[in-house]
Amino acid sequence: MPVQKASATLADPAFTIPPVPTGGPSAGINWLRRHVARFANGAEHDRRRLQVTSILATVDLAGLRRLAAEHTRAVLDDADGRPVDLMAQVARVVPIDVLVAALGAPSVRASAVAVAAKAYQPGSGPEEPADEAVRELVEAFGGTPDESVAAKIALLVQACDATAGLVGNAALAMLRADTNRPVETIVAETLLQDPPVRMTRRLAAKTGTVVAVDLATSGLPFGAGPHQCPGRDHATAITIGILESVEGYQLTDLNINYEPSTALRIPAKLVIVR
Ligand code: HEM
Repeated sequence: MPVQKASATLADPAFTIPPVPTGGPSAGINWLRRHVARFANGAEHDRRRLQVTSILATVDLAGLRRLAAEHTRAVLDDADGRPVDLMAQVARVVPIDVLVAALGAPSVRASAVAVAAKAYQPGSGPEEPADEAVRELVEAFGGTPDESVAAKIALLVQACDATAGLVGNAALAMLRADTNRPVETIVAETLLQDPPVRMTRRLAAKTGTVVAVDLATSGLPFGAGPHQCPGRDHATAITIGILESVEGYQLTDLNINYEPSTALRIPAKLVIVR
């Protein structure tokens, strides 16, 4: 697949979002893809994006940061000195839990969001469990599979892997370093030096081919153009909150493996101890 420069491609209307598959159950992963801003173009994208940004605008960023710090502290306190896998017990759970609290949908399970997120990009993961997870998420948001429910599910699904990766990569930078830099600085540096979302795709109108767009070396960790991440401030607030509670902990193993993915860079496991 040809690789394009992010800054030029993402703002160019000649490069659009590739079409998503048709078919599937009435409230499954294909339904989700066909009803969210992420996979839409033009006026349809504008309308759905407005739904997402309107929801995000109601969320108090300082509150999100505080809640993320509190949830993380609770997980670490519960461990009572035993080692904790920061990825499984914090990075993959806390961001979703605090967003769910902010959206006022207490019955949403972070594990259902994770299963849907695995298959969100067409071809990235198993569809059947994702169909079941999306069905569960539609029920949790009232049961009607419409665009406004899709927007809420999309927020959680989009946040899931990307924020887990940001938390993991920033925690690694913080815990490996021997300096006491502010967590805000560590997160800002991680976004430029070790971003969690490495690439995206666009359809080139001229040739009809799908191209890979490099985000890892572009200095655009949240993308650019009409689909630029609307959750940037939320993701940053949550990550900073989590890191505040992890300060002072140590990694038990400096040998880090990453989840198998070309588009995402997410540590598979980060075991920490007081
Ligand atoms: C609270 C956490 C997050 C939320 C709610 C969120 C939400 C979203 C949404 C709704 C979109 C689709 C926007 C559209 O198509 O118009 C999006 C796109 C995107 N997000 Fe996020 N996101 C979050 C975290 C992150 C993080 C941590 C990163 C990476 C540092 C990230 C990187 C991106 C990128 C690169 C895109 C654009 C993809 C493309 O243009 O193909 N997001 N995000």
